[in-house]
Amino acid sequence: MNGKQLAGEQAAQYVENGMIVGLGTGSTVYYSIVALGRRIREGLQIQCIPTSKQTEHLANELSIPLISLKDVEKLDITIDGADEIDPNLNLIKGGGGALFREKLIASLSDRLVIVADQVKTVERLGAFCVPVEVVPFATDVVARTISTMDGSATLRCDQEDVPFVTDNGNYILDCNFGHIEQPLQLDRELKQHIGVVETGLFVDMVGVALVGSPDGVSVLER
Ligand code: A5P
Repeated sequence: MNGKQLAGEQAAQYVENGMIVGLGTGSTVYYSIVALGRRIREGLQIQCIPTSKQTEHLANELSIPLISLKDVEKLDITIDGADEIDPNLNLIKGGGGALFREKLIASLSDRLVIVADQVKTVERLGAFCVPVEVVPFATDVVARTISTMDGSATLRCDQEDVPFVTDNGNYILDCNFGHIEQPLQLDRELKQHIGVVETGLFVDMVGVALVGSPDGVSVLER
Protein backbone atom coordinates (compact mmCIF):
# COMPACT_ATOMS: atom_id res chain seq x y z
CA MET A 1 0.00 0.00 0.00
CA ASN A 2 1.30 3.49 -0.76
CA GLY A 3 1.49 6.39 1.71
CA LYS A 4 -1.65 8.09 0.41
CA GLN A 5 -3.75 5.00 0.85
CA LEU A 6 -2.36 4.22 4.32
CA ALA A 7 -2.99 7.76 5.59
CA GLY A 8 -6.36 8.08 3.86
CA GLU A 9 -7.71 4.83 5.25
CA GLN A 10 -6.40 5.47 8.78
CA ALA A 11 -8.19 8.84 8.91
CA ALA A 12 -11.55 7.18 8.39
CA GLN A 13 -11.11 5.63 11.85
CA TYR A 14 -11.47 9.09 13.43
CA VAL A 15 -15.13 9.17 12.37
CA GLU A 16 -17.67 7.98 14.92
CA ASN A 17 -21.34 7.11 14.80
CA GLY A 18 -23.67 10.11 14.57
CA MET A 19 -21.03 12.57 13.34
CA ILE A 20 -21.45 15.28 10.72
CA VAL A 21 -18.41 14.84 8.48
CA GLY A 22 -16.79 17.14 5.93
CA LEU A 23 -15.41 15.28 2.94
CA GLY A 24 -12.35 16.90 1.38
CA THR A 25 -11.14 16.74 -2.20
CA GLY A 26 -8.24 14.97 -3.88
CA SER A 27 -6.49 11.69 -4.45
CA THR A 28 -5.54 11.04 -0.79
CA VAL A 29 -8.88 11.76 0.88
CA TYR A 30 -10.34 9.56 -1.85
CA TYR A 31 -9.17 6.60 0.24
CA SER A 32 -10.83 8.02 3.36
CA ILE A 33 -14.10 8.45 1.50
CA VAL A 34 -14.00 4.92 0.10
CA ALA A 35 -13.25 3.58 3.62
CA LEU A 36 -16.18 5.59 5.03
CA GLY A 37 -18.43 4.17 2.32
CA ARG A 38 -17.37 0.70 3.44
CA ARG A 39 -18.06 1.50 7.11
CA ILE A 40 -21.47 2.93 6.21
CA ARG A 41 -22.38 -0.31 4.45
CA GLU A 42 -21.37 -2.07 7.69
CA GLY A 43 -23.71 0.12 9.78
CA LEU A 44 -21.93 3.42 10.54
CA GLN A 45 -24.47 6.26 10.64
CA ILE A 46 -23.08 9.63 9.59
CA GLN A 47 -24.08 12.58 7.46
CA CYS A 48 -21.54 14.25 5.20
CA ILE A 49 -20.93 17.54 3.42
CA PRO A 50 -18.69 17.43 0.32
CA THR A 51 -16.14 20.17 -0.44
CA SER A 52 -16.43 19.90 -4.23
CA LYS A 53 -18.63 18.63 -7.01
CA GLN A 54 -16.00 15.92 -7.63
CA THR A 55 -16.33 14.66 -4.06
CA GLU A 56 -20.12 14.97 -4.18
CA HIS A 57 -20.11 12.71 -7.23
CA LEU A 58 -17.86 10.15 -5.50
CA ALA A 59 -20.00 10.20 -2.34
CA ASN A 60 -23.15 9.65 -4.37
CA GLU A 61 -21.53 6.68 -6.16
CA LEU A 62 -20.74 5.17 -2.75
CA SER A 63 -24.24 5.91 -1.36
CA ILE A 64 -22.80 8.13 1.39
CA PRO A 65 -25.62 10.25 2.91
CA LEU A 66 -25.11 13.94 2.07
CA ILE A 67 -26.57 17.06 3.65
CA SER A 68 -25.93 20.74 2.96
CA LEU A 69 -24.99 23.80 5.00
CA LYS A 70 -28.64 24.77 5.26
CA ASP A 71 -29.13 21.66 7.44
CA VAL A 72 -26.33 22.24 10.01
CA GLU A 73 -24.35 25.07 11.57
CA LYS A 74 -21.21 23.08 12.31
CA LEU A 75 -19.46 19.81 11.60
CA ASP A 76 -17.77 17.38 13.98
CA ILE A 77 -14.84 16.54 11.74
CA THR A 78 -13.46 17.15 8.26
CA ILE A 79 -10.91 14.97 6.50
CA ASP A 80 -8.99 16.58 3.66
CA GLY A 81 -5.70 16.48 1.75
CA ALA A 82 -2.92 19.07 1.43
CA ASP A 83 -0.33 20.25 -1.06
CA GLU A 84 2.21 21.33 1.57
CA ILE A 85 2.38 20.85 5.36
CA ASP A 86 4.88 22.77 7.50
CA PRO A 87 6.12 21.77 11.00
CA ASN A 88 3.37 23.93 12.61
CA LEU A 89 0.78 22.06 10.53
CA ASN A 90 0.06 25.12 8.43
CA LEU A 91 -0.89 24.21 4.88
CA ILE A 92 -1.05 25.17 1.28
CA LYS A 93 -4.15 23.68 -0.33
CA GLY A 94 -6.07 24.15 -3.55
CA GLY A 95 -4.04 22.14 -6.05
CA GLY A 96 -7.36 20.69 -7.13
CA GLY A 97 -9.05 24.10 -7.11
CA ALA A 98 -11.48 23.35 -4.27
CA LEU A 99 -9.84 25.64 -1.70
CA PHE A 100 -12.82 27.92 -1.01
CA ARG A 101 -15.27 25.18 -0.08
CA GLU A 102 -12.51 23.27 1.71
CA LYS A 103 -11.64 26.28 3.85
CA LEU A 104 -15.26 27.12 4.63
CA ILE A 105 -16.05 23.55 5.67
CA ALA A 106 -12.80 23.29 7.68
CA SER A 107 -13.62 26.54 9.49
CA LEU A 108 -16.98 25.11 10.58
CA SER A 109 -15.47 21.84 11.81
CA ASP A 110 -14.52 20.99 15.39
CA ARG A 111 -11.59 18.97 14.05
CA LEU A 112 -9.66 19.09 10.77
CA VAL A 113 -7.80 15.87 9.97
CA ILE A 114 -5.28 16.17 7.14
CA VAL A 115 -4.14 13.19 5.12
CA ALA A 116 -1.06 13.32 2.91
CA ASP A 117 1.86 11.45 1.47
CA GLN A 118 5.15 12.29 3.21
CA VAL A 119 6.37 14.19 0.12
CA LYS A 120 3.95 16.97 1.13
CA THR A 121 5.89 17.83 4.30
CA VAL A 122 8.19 20.87 4.03
CA GLU A 123 10.31 22.97 6.40
CA ARG A 124 8.74 26.19 5.06
CA LEU A 125 5.69 26.74 2.87
CA GLY A 126 6.09 28.18 -0.60
CA ALA A 127 7.70 25.78 -3.07
CA PHE A 128 4.13 24.97 -4.13
CA CYS A 129 2.44 28.09 -5.53
CA VAL A 130 -0.36 29.49 -3.35
CA PRO A 131 -3.69 29.10 -5.17
CA VAL A 132 -5.80 32.25 -4.87
CA GLU A 133 -9.43 32.12 -5.99
CA VAL A 134 -10.47 35.35 -7.71
CA VAL A 135 -13.62 36.78 -9.22
CA PRO A 136 -12.99 36.57 -13.01
CA PHE A 137 -13.64 40.30 -13.61
CA ALA A 138 -10.90 41.18 -11.10
CA THR A 139 -8.26 38.69 -12.29
CA ASP A 140 -5.83 41.15 -13.89
CA VAL A 141 -6.22 43.65 -11.07
CA VAL A 142 -5.39 41.04 -8.45
CA ALA A 143 -2.48 39.68 -10.53
CA ARG A 144 -0.97 43.20 -10.70
CA THR A 145 -1.44 43.63 -6.96
CA ILE A 146 0.37 40.36 -6.31
CA SER A 147 3.36 41.57 -8.33
CA THR A 148 3.56 44.59 -5.99
CA MET A 149 3.72 42.11 -3.07
CA ASP A 150 6.94 40.53 -4.40
CA GLY A 151 4.95 37.68 -5.89
CA SER A 152 4.07 36.48 -9.37
CA ALA A 153 0.66 35.20 -10.39
CA THR A 154 -0.21 32.76 -13.16
CA LEU A 155 -3.79 32.20 -14.24
CA ARG A 156 -4.55 28.47 -13.97
CA CYS A 157 -5.48 27.19 -17.45
CA ASP A 158 -5.89 23.84 -19.19
CA GLN A 159 -3.69 22.69 -22.09
CA GLU A 160 -5.78 24.74 -24.56
CA ASP A 161 -5.21 27.88 -22.45
CA VAL A 162 -8.81 27.89 -21.25
CA PRO A 163 -9.03 29.19 -17.66
CA PHE A 164 -9.88 26.64 -14.98
CA VAL A 165 -13.26 27.52 -13.44
CA THR A 166 -13.91 26.63 -9.80
CA ASP A 167 -17.14 25.12 -8.47
CA ASN A 168 -18.04 28.70 -7.50
CA GLY A 169 -17.60 30.08 -11.03
CA ASN A 170 -14.29 31.81 -10.25
CA TYR A 171 -10.70 31.64 -11.53
CA ILE A 172 -7.50 30.55 -9.76
CA LEU A 173 -4.25 32.53 -9.72
CA ASP A 174 -1.31 30.30 -8.75
CA CYS A 175 0.99 32.67 -6.87
CA ASN A 176 4.70 32.28 -6.24
CA PHE A 177 5.98 34.20 -3.21
CA GLY A 178 9.11 32.12 -2.67
CA HIS A 179 9.51 30.82 0.88
CA ILE A 180 6.68 32.14 3.02
CA GLU A 181 7.91 33.39 6.41
CA GLN A 182 4.56 34.62 7.75
CA PRO A 183 1.68 32.59 6.26
CA LEU A 184 -1.01 34.20 8.45
CA GLN A 185 0.12 37.69 7.51
CA LEU A 186 0.25 36.80 3.80
CA ASP A 187 -3.23 35.27 3.94
CA ARG A 188 -4.63 38.40 5.62
CA GLU A 189 -2.87 40.73 3.21
CA LEU A 190 -4.14 38.88 0.14
CA LYS A 191 -7.71 38.88 1.41
CA GLN A 192 -7.72 42.66 1.83
CA HIS A 193 -7.82 43.08 -1.93
CA ILE A 194 -11.13 43.39 -3.73
CA GLY A 195 -11.60 40.45 -6.06
CA VAL A 196 -9.82 37.90 -3.86
CA VAL A 197 -12.36 35.30 -2.76
CA GLU A 198 -10.07 33.05 -0.70
CA THR A 199 -6.50 31.79 -0.51
CA GLY A 200 -5.09 28.29 -0.20
CA LEU A 201 -3.16 29.19 2.98
CA PHE A 202 -4.66 27.26 5.90
CA VAL A 203 -3.12 28.66 9.09
CA ASP A 204 -3.86 27.37 12.60
CA MET A 205 -6.69 25.18 11.36
CA VAL A 206 -5.33 21.63 11.52
CA GLY A 207 -5.97 19.36 14.50
CA VAL A 208 -4.03 16.34 13.34
CA ALA A 209 -2.13 15.37 10.19
CA LEU A 210 -1.69 11.75 9.12
CA VAL A 211 1.39 11.55 6.93
CA GLY A 212 1.84 8.30 5.08
CA SER A 213 4.81 6.50 3.56
CA PRO A 214 5.13 2.90 2.39
CA ASP A 215 6.52 2.15 5.90
CA GLY A 216 3.46 3.44 7.77
CA VAL A 217 1.67 6.55 9.01
CA SER A 218 3.07 9.32 11.25
CA VAL A 219 0.48 11.12 13.36
CA LEU A 220 1.41 14.81 13.75
CA GLU A 221 -0.51 16.88 16.29
CA ARG A 222 -0.20 20.49 17.33
C1 A5P B 1 -7.99 20.31 -3.56
O1 A5P B 1 -8.30 21.59 -3.96
C2 A5P B 1 -6.73 20.33 -2.76
O2 A5P B 1 -6.73 21.20 -1.66
C3 A5P B 1 -6.35 18.93 -2.31
O3 A5P B 1 -6.84 18.63 -1.05
C4 A5P B 1 -4.87 18.86 -2.32
O4 A5P B 1 -4.45 19.31 -3.59
C5 A5P B 1 -4.35 17.46 -2.06
O5 A5P B 1 -4.66 16.62 -3.12
P1 A5P B 1 -4.01 15.19 -3.26
O6 A5P B 1 -4.40 14.42 -2.06
O7 A5P B 1 -4.61 14.67 -4.55
O8 A5P B 1 -2.54 15.40 -3.37
